[in-house]
Amino acid sequence: MTTSRTKILVTGGAGYIGSHAVVELYQAGYQPVIVDNFSNSQESALAGIESILGTTVPIYRIDCADEAALRGVFAAEPNIAGVIHFAAFKAVGESVQKPLAYFKNNVGSLLALLAVMPEFGVENLVFSSSCTVYGIPDALPVTEATPTKPASSPYGRTKQMCEDIVHDVAAAPDNKLRTILLRYFNPIGAHESAKIGELPLGVPNNLVPFITQTAAGIREKLTIFGNDYDTPDGTNIRDYIHVVDLAKSHVVAVQRLLDHKATDTVETFNVGTGHGNSVLEVVQTFERVTGQKLNYSIGPRRPGDVPAIYADATKAAEVLGFRTETSLADSLASAWKWQQTLAK
Ligand code: NAD
Ligand code: WQD
Repeated sequence: MTTSRTKILVTGGAGYIGSHAVVELYQAGYQPVIVDNFSNSQESALAGIESILGTTVPIYRIDCADEAALRGVFAAEPNIAGVIHFAAFKAVGESVQKPLAYFKNNVGSLLALLAVMPEFGVENLVFSSSCTVYGIPDALPVTEATPTKPASSPYGRTKQMCEDIVHDVAAAPDNKLRTILLRYFNPIGAHESAKIGELPLGVPNNLVPFITQTAAGIREKLTIFGNDYDTPDGTNIRDYIHVVDLAKSHVVAVQRLLDHKATDTVETFNVGTGHGNSVLEVVQTFERVTGQKLNYSIGPRRPGDVPAIYADATKAAEVLGFRTETSLADSLASAWKWQQTLAK
């Protein structure tokens, strides 16, 4: 494809976060090129992206872990300036059932990228990591210097392994790779147009899709997983970040790499709001902004849940100039608008 825009390869660009990042990249003047095998997304995401942007975006329907297929994409798309690597499996519970699939896909896709990128002189990588690497932290909020803990699931271990792999590759003598690891907190909500958003397959594991599906009548009742934690109202605390804010952090991260402003071969940033909200606060805020009464009850704790975690967002603000813009209330309103589009 011929374009004067700087090309960024976006693996997993048809997925929840990736689709929003594709939109923000294009609107910031880049040319996103999508790689996705639709293992956890649908073609309709592409229509949504195109409807928002008023243009098509190149898409390669390949498995990112397939090195030869990936090589074909780089050959077909000369002058890729950087890669944002979203493609991975992300369901914590499923990773316990199918650990090999998770290691193969999540670690395998990164290994394939790291093998092929240097063949085409591509030196800039943004990687999707997760606050799951902090486990149950000893102190809050967590900074990037907070020690990571052994992960409690195969999914979490894939993220830790991928971070380790990136560090080892960067430390090799002939290394040219520069990577920004973004540790996301809890992304929620959807694009304001409601043309793209999260498409959970089956029963959602995550809180906000479960809330919106309950309000829409698809689920009978939300169960809050425990109210006996050592938190102000007894329910878990998380840092819920609007997906468009999260998407924008990728644009500034890519820009930093392309501008050669990174001060280390691997830089790590928390991407969160810096504020924690409890499950009950999320439920009550949802009810207030949408006017929907939510059917919910308190149930037992969910095994493996972290009682409380939220980001110290200072480093991203100071170094990347990245600050979130969307309130919890507006994020939940956008999730509800998206749900109503789906329910139609
Ligand atoms: P998603 O499942 O919606 O998107 C991932 C996309 O990658 C999907 O479109 C899927 O089809 C594609 N994909 C998966 N494996 C592939 C492969 N081998 N080849 C090509 N395409 C492949 O997930 P998401 O929520 O958008 O998450 C994106 C990234 O962010 C993942 O790496 C995930 O682990 C990470 N992350 C997500 C969250 C979250 O709560 N959503 C939190 C922290 C980190
Ligand atoms: C949020 C809160 C639940 C559903 C997961 C992954 C993590 C990261 C983000 C990728 C918790 C409570 C939920 C429900 C509930 N993903 N809840 N009833 O657990 O913070 O993190 O997604 O990297 O790795 O583990 O997100 O949305 O599942 O839960 O009470 O039906 O909502 O207990 O406190 P979580 P979540």
